[in-house]
Amino acid sequence: MDPSSFVNELLRENQELFARLRPAETLVAEAGPDLSPKRLLRIALKNELEASEIAALWMPSATGARLKLALARQAGDEARHYRLIEEWLRELGDSLAGFDPLAGGYSPMFRYLSGLDTDVERVAAGQFTREAIAMVKNAQFIELCEKAGDEKTAHLYREVIQPDERFHHELGARFLAELATGDDSQALARAARVRTLELAEELQSLAYARQKIHHAPGC
Ligand SMILES: [Fe+2]
Ligand SMILES: [Fe+2]
Repeated sequence: MDPSSFVNELLRENQELFARLRPAETLVAEAGPDLSPKRLLRIALKNELEASEIAALWMPSATGARLKLALARQAGDEARHYRLIEEWLRELGDSLAGFDPLAGGYSPMFRYLSGLDTDVERVAAGQFTREAIAMVKNAQFIELCEKAGDEKTAHLYREVIQPDERFHHELGARFLAELATGDDSQALARAARVRTLELAEELQSLAYARQKIHHAPGC
């Protein structure tokens, strides 16, 4: 398949998968029943730290200046998100005293991503897919905040964080079109995307599972 058709196919599959999610569903799956902004923002800190660290980890072994610099930019953006969320939590009255986002260790997603060796798998998993998942979660969080009248938290996500995550995802799509040029690289990219979706527990247990059920006879 030619690379741009391949990327478009994956984009379409993402859209179909995410369209099956119900409001706030990914948030409940990740955080449990307590959807207070303070709790969700603490979880977000861990996600941002891991996203920054993964991009930094991949930079030295990435091929070519453009990909290296895209990863460097992403590492910086995610670090900035961390700082903005941290500042906002303090304003909300959470001093974060004694808080260590990695107290529970790195997530399975981080451990999987850190073991990927090829640029095409990294771009497919880390930027193209993980950032698409981040956008879905953020959109659900923004909706939740707006419904609760928490316009300031919604604003931070809608105007600052979400546009960056979209940029990271689009970077992933662009690099994927450059790197997934043949059958072998497309197979690697496809497998990395699927594994990333599986590791996003909230999707695995929700839309991903539902999609399978949806295709079962009698449903
Ligand atoms: Fe981020
Ligand atoms: Fe991001």
